[in-house]
Amino acid sequence: MNYKIAVIPGDGIGPEIVAEAQKVLDAAGRKYGFSLEYQELLMGGASIDVNGVPLTEETIQAAKDSDAVLMGSIGGDAKTSPWYQLAPELRPEAGLLKIRKELNLFANVRPAYLYEELKAACPLRDEIIGDGFDMVIMRELTGGLYFGQRHTTEENGVRKAVDTLSYDEKEIRRIAIKGFEIARKRRKKVTSVDKANVLDSSRLWRNVVEEVAKEYPDVTLEHMLVDNCAMQLVRDPKQFDVILTENMFGDILSDEASMVTGSIGMLSSASLNETKFGLYEPSHGSAPDIAGKNIANPIATVLSAAMMLRYSLDLDDAAAGIEAAVKQVLADGYRTGDIFSEGCKKVGTVEMGDLIAARI
Ligand code: IPM
Ligand code: MG
Repeated sequence: MNYKIAVIPGDGIGPEIVAEAQKVLDAAGRKYGFSLEYQELLMGGASIDVNGVPLTEETIQAAKDSDAVLMGSIGGDAKTSPWYQLAPELRPEAGLLKIRKELNLFANVRPAYLYEELKAACPLRDEIIGDGFDMVIMRELTGGLYFGQRHTTEENGVRKAVDTLSYDEKEIRRIAIKGFEIARKRRKKVTSVDKANVLDSSRLWRNVVEEVAKEYPDVTLEHMLVDNCAMQLVRDPKQFDVILTENMFGDILSDEASMVTGSIGMLSSASLNETKFGLYEPSHGSAPDIAGKNIANPIATVLSAAMMLRYSLDLDDAAAGIEAAVKQVLADGYRTGDIFSEGCKKVGTVEMGDLIAARI
């Protein structure tokens, strides 16, 4: 089978890590008998430099015409990059938010898994880590504070800024269904995270999630306030299976969850709509400070590519093959700088890609 993949290398370390993911995908294609036809697209700062805007209609259309999108990362250093002299809606991040909305990618799946081999990179104490942990953060991606009305005004010399957090029940229901469906294939537990002791949007969230839960009697549902969840993630991460939460809480909690797995350089992500289509990107940012130095960890992008094979292309065996190759490289003692510990062999971005591809 031949598939059309839109590739958005993006900014910072994006082009380097995407190149390694493509190398690994091509190795998987040779082994498992499929081929990928890549179309490279500009987004974020790379698009601003060429087109003056972070996302063009052509890029959106080309992404829609593909079977899936593989992305690196977008954005630059907010202090030094000229991209941040532009109005907010013209900055790199605006392109990312727009493509999520245009492609209706409302379900962001972020698995956080502690590899046995990376226990030494986990900042938590051994008795907290225990046998490790394995959770999925299901983050709503096209609503809430990110997409509500916002404005900045000045009244009588006093500056004022407003952001709005709004959800309707349909938006909550569709992400909740995705969360319960994923939980059903895992350990059958959903922790719905909100701030229902303060926010109306959270009270609606909780009600709708409870309605959806009635259709999934085999899945256990618990509710947790977001501040408590932030604490529980470092106190006892083993308790979590699927964390279901709104956009902003999911943004924050997924960074925290990634850190307890040892490094944000390990965390993959899939952004899905109602169909098989999805955009796959690492959960981390563009790390402009280490761009072009061949030291970035490509594993989060490689694992995102594996998710692409599984969710969008139904190539489950090839996805599992990539995941096993990553595990094998770690077991063989190879590490990029971010996950390095004593006694391991330090490698660069390209070498890490080669090592994974060689184990497919
Ligand atoms: C993420 C990122 C983005 C977000 C930024 C770059 C806009 O932090 O994907 O988690 O906040 O969603
Ligand atoms: Mg984030």
